[in-house]
Amino acid sequence: MTVALVTGASRGIGEATAVGLARRGLDVVINYRDKQARADRVVERIRAAGGQAVAIRADLTEPAAVESMVARTVREFGRLDRLVLNASGGLERDAPADYATQLNCVAQVRLADLAVEQMTSGGRIVFVTSHEAHFHGAGETLSEYAPVAASKRAGEDALLERAPGYAERGVSLVVVSGDLIDGTITAKLLDRARPGLIEQRRAEAGYLPSVDTFAAEVVRATLAAGPDPLILVGETRPVPDR
Ligand SMILES: NC(=O)c1ccc[n+]([C@@H]2O[C@H](COP(=O)([O-])OP(=O)(O)OC[C@H]3O[C@@H](n4cnc5c(N)ncnc54)[C@H](OP(=O)(O)O)[C@@H]3O)[C@@H](O)[C@H]2O)c1
Repeated sequence: MTVALVTGASRGIGEATAVGLARRGLDVVINYRDKQARADRVVERIRAAGGQAVAIRADLTEPAAVESMVARTVREFGRLDRLVLNASGGLERDAPADYATQLNCVAQVRLADLAVEQMTSGGRIVFVTSHEAHFHGAGETLSEYAPVAASKRAGEDALLERAPGYAERGVSLVVVSGDLIDGTITAKLLDRARPGLIEQRRAEAGYLPSVDTFAAEVVRATLAAGPDPLILVGETRPVPDR
């Protein structure tokens, strides 16, 4: 049996990834921060299709909660083989000033380090990010998203720095980056801040990936033997003149 922990799996891309992994026969931990009813619905969806899943609440910025989530995963499933670092944030109203950095960088590394301790050779960590973050610094970034982009790029860099140490233990790291994903809450929030953004990006790029398309790539990155260390989904042309 292969066991995967997917962070932020109560909705959106994390949910679609968790369901996709369960369909491929993995036991899945549905991590969420807050929305228990939504996480429980994802678990029910997986169990109804004959899969195994459990929902575990843990705010990734709280070290004790994260330790207890990893311990419970190993207690309930006996192992941990795959970690999908999908949860992300920083656009929330009233969040502390350093919340984006704490969640998108510090917490990602903390959880990856804890997970690697549990993984055996062949383990995999997948870091999910956006082109705005992955290419941060290479072109213009939406001002509303800039602190999130910078913190996610810092998280990616910190993980890449640790990747050789993970590799010594037989654990590989894959980064999956996507363009704006059609139909997500994040895209809608950005569109509200910058009216017309979604249609502008769709016109520039020619198309926008859907949640299912993007999640399918995350599933592939999680399961493939010897995948590319970086998978880019959607159009990567920098956006001119924002
Ligand atoms: N949306 C896009 O257009 C887009 C494009 C490219 C890449 N991506 C990447 O895809 C990933 C998922 O994006 P999304 O738009 O699907 O996200 P989302 O809809 O905002 O979902 C966020 C998920 O993360 C959880 N979460 C938030 N803060 C957390 C915390 N502190 N601790 C634990 N869990 C937390 C939420 O749990 P609760 O429900 O309990 O709050 C929820 O399950 C991100 O890494 C993002 O950068 C997104």
